[in-house]
Amino acid sequence: MNSEIIFLPLQIKNFTFRNRLGVAPMTRMSAGPESIPRQDVLDFLVRRAEKGASVVFTEAIVTDYESSQGYPGQARMTTQRQIDAWHPVVKKIRDHGAVSIMQMFHCGRMAWPEVNPANRSIAPSTISPSQQNPLTQAPYPVPEEMSQFDIDHVINGFVETAKGAITAGFDGVEIHGAHGYLINQFLSAYSNKRNDAYGGSVEKRFHFAREVIQAVKAEVPADRLLTFRISNWGVADMDVSLFETKEEWQQIIKMIAEEGVDIISVSTYDFKADAFGAGKNMAQLTREVTDLPIMICGKIHDRKSAEQALQHADIALSGKSTLLNPDWVEDVRQGKESPLHASEEANVAYTNEPLP
Ligand SMILES: Cc1cc2nc3c(=O)[nH]c(=O)nc-3n(C[C@H](O)[C@H](O)[C@H](O)COP(=O)(O)O)c2cc1C
Repeated sequence: MNSEIIFLPLQIKNFTFRNRLGVAPMTRMSAGPESIPRQDVLDFLVRRAEKGASVVFTEAIVTDYESSQGYPGQARMTTQRQIDAWHPVVKKIRDHGAVSIMQMFHCGRMAWPEVNPANRSIAPSTISPSQQNPLTQAPYPVPEEMSQFDIDHVINGFVETAKGAITAGFDGVEIHGAHGYLINQFLSAYSNKRNDAYGGSVEKRFHFAREVIQAVKAEVPADRLLTFRISNWGVADMDVSLFETKEEWQQIIKMIAEEGVDIISVSTYDFKADAFGAGKNMAQLTREVTDLPIMICGKIHDRKSAEQALQHADIALSGKSTLLNPDWVEDVRQGKESPLHASEEANVAYTNEPLP
């Protein structure tokens, strides 16, 4: 394999990614009552572009004011003031030569009800995660089963937030369908026990994701990017395989691709891990069924792991390494030693301490 692949540019539609290293979406819980992140948190994203990342994702932006917020201090993008706060960030990221993508999510049953203006928790079915909320040590509330009205309202939240991102000038929007949050909850039989049009077979469990993608895609101009993030694991009940077989995973990937997204972002806990006992990793299984550009994430921390990850994917995203080391891209270029960080080290993300 060409060991220089990491620094080869990649063209996706009208965007040139200058290399294959990007900043994964990372929630920082820094926003005040106006749902706008702290200035140093916004500056952090600009600095990652300045320091060479080819693509910078925002933290997960919450999609409505009723039930979408899963953590304190999350940001929104549906008021003019919120849009105005992001506009210069996007411009600076572009001026530094990187692609900007807004990620949006609805937490579903991963709710922390008291941080939601409407104090609700909603999900495909009335089942809460088995484990407690690791941040509050309280059990997750049992969610209300979403009605058709709720579903339509939630989809509208994704649409309004995408509109906000487009108005703010973002190069792309990402639908967060990973990590056990709402869309992932619909996709997985672990959390979706519905027997209407939104549950049952894989096709029916995909129905909600399809509706979200179609509604959002209608708002994303042809010269911007639409990406979909997916994972086989959730932040709660982490050991559960959300999909049962590689066939189920691949069927969902094919359905996502058929909806005309531009990129599929595969989030793993460890990109190298054998998936579904198939003797292949997640990116490989994804590549088998789609020609779309693939982003891969999970324990990519140095040149060797990035090269390895890029064998079956087009862009390697890093969470913790880019969080903790502003010079990560350059360190990878130089082949410097760059440690694999423990999850606890990332907790600094949630403090008031400005990160370099
Ligand atoms: C502080 C922190 C916040 C995160 N927030 C998000 C998020 O908002 N959306 C998301 O999709 N993933 C989020 N993640 C997961 C990362 O995007 C990434 O998938 C994960 O950290 C694994 O990559 P790594 O091994 O390079 O850290 C977060 C991770 C960290 C460390």
